[in-house]
Amino acid sequence: SKQKLWGGRFTGKTDPKMHEFNQSLRYDQRMHAADIKGSVAYAKALTRVGIITQQEETKLTEGLVQVGKEWVDGVFQVHPDDEDIHTANERRLSELIGPLGGKLHTGRSRNDQVATDMRLWLLEQVYDIEKSVKGLLRVIVDRADHEKDYLLPGYTHLQRGQPIRWSHLLLSHATSFRYDLERLQQLIPRISVLPLGSGALAGNPFLVDREFLAKELGFASIAENSMWGVGDRDFIVEFLMWASLSMTHISRMAEDLIIYSTAEFGFVTLSDAYTTGSSIMPQKKNPDSLELLRGKTGRIFGNMAGFLMTLKGLPSTYNKDLQEDKEPLFDAVDNVSASLQIAEGVIATMDVHADKMAKALTMDVLATDLADYLVRKGIPFRETHHISGRAVALAESRKCQINELSLADFQSLNANFGPDVHQVFDFEASVERRAAIGGTSKEMVSRQISVLRAVLQ
Ligand code: ARG
Repeated sequence: SKQKLWGGRFTGKTDPKMHEFNQSLRYDQRMHAADIKGSVAYAKALTRVGIITQQEETKLTEGLVQVGKEWVDGVFQVHPDDEDIHTANERRLSELIGPLGGKLHTGRSRNDQVATDMRLWLLEQVYDIEKSVKGLLRVIVDRADHEKDYLLPGYTHLQRGQPIRWSHLLLSHATSFRYDLERLQQLIPRISVLPLGSGALAGNPFLVDREFLAKELGFASIAENSMWGVGDRDFIVEFLMWASLSMTHISRMAEDLIIYSTAEFGFVTLSDAYTTGSSIMPQKKNPDSLELLRGKTGRIFGNMAGFLMTLKGLPSTYNKDLQEDKEPLFDAVDNVSASLQIAEGVIATMDVHADKMAKALTMDVLATDLADYLVRKGIPFRETHHISGRAVALAESRKCQINELSLADFQSLNANFGPDVHQVFDFEASVERRAAIGGTSKEMVSRQISVLRAVLQ
């Protein structure tokens, strides 16, 4: 059987259960390309300080490229003794090019290697996720642009509040995603810090040029403290926090749409592509896509909370606990990526029913506007609020809508009511009055669309 890479000081064998417990190759093999990339750059850095010759570098690089190709082609043969992607790649490299393979790890440790791989891998994922956030944002903005004329009640406490444009609701979610995009972009400089050249913990004794390594690998800056370089996983925590918050936004939007897709509301119908049926109730069309978006949010939170707990109380630098960074991160990346794409698909394909929305607009959602009418006649809002409330109560006792009250009824509540009071009962006029920046008037909805389109440029 093969020697373990660290086997020199050992005489006894690893318990097979311990080997299984310890190994991370099962999941960290997905970083194979980052690991090869980091090693190719490190070989160059070793050449520049004279640890290996130019010919040796060429041979090492060819070997590394070959190992990488085996992963890509799906023919890499995992050896039972391989512990993680780093030991597997080095073991295979030495099989291919002989003892020269053993020079690659000079001055390097798996500690700076794994931290480098994780950052390289995550950076690439973040660029993909950034595209997905933009994709979601774009479909919401496009819909909002086309559906500006649909009015519906806006809700607080899930009780009808005031009339709004449907686009205004869509854009409220888009605004959350806009800041999610910004926050994601702000993570990049802190992920893009190079650990390689930190060695095991104390630094690199062969004076490898870390500026060169950073440039080769595309890092924006260099870990200025080697102990921090090998022991820091804050970039993973930050990503998990980002994912938790973004999923919370997806989840809240999903919840709106789940409610709106019930027969009781009927504002939207999800496309067949994003719904499933019931095995017993033939009429059912269930919003499973949205429910999974809501459900997965809990799991992403769990990844964040779990990994923070792993970090809490760890002594400085590398401890094997840190290997537990991978599964929560990979799981979060996979599920956030999928969630963003599913959310985009749901929004792009659902049917929106303006007629049902209009039907839900009962006159009582204009009670604020009725109070505002009297404000414009000079009465303090606290009083007008009360008067409008009494109009609502009067209509309720008459089993009619407030607009069906007569002028005499209104004047019995307050003498300032005039015949123009009936102009209040117009939903379109109500939304158009909300014309301060951020309001639901058509102009302000268009403004939001322009702002978001500019963000997407
Ligand atoms: N598989 C390990 C991890 O993911 C690599 C680093 C191992 N370092 C060590 N000193 N045992 O963290």
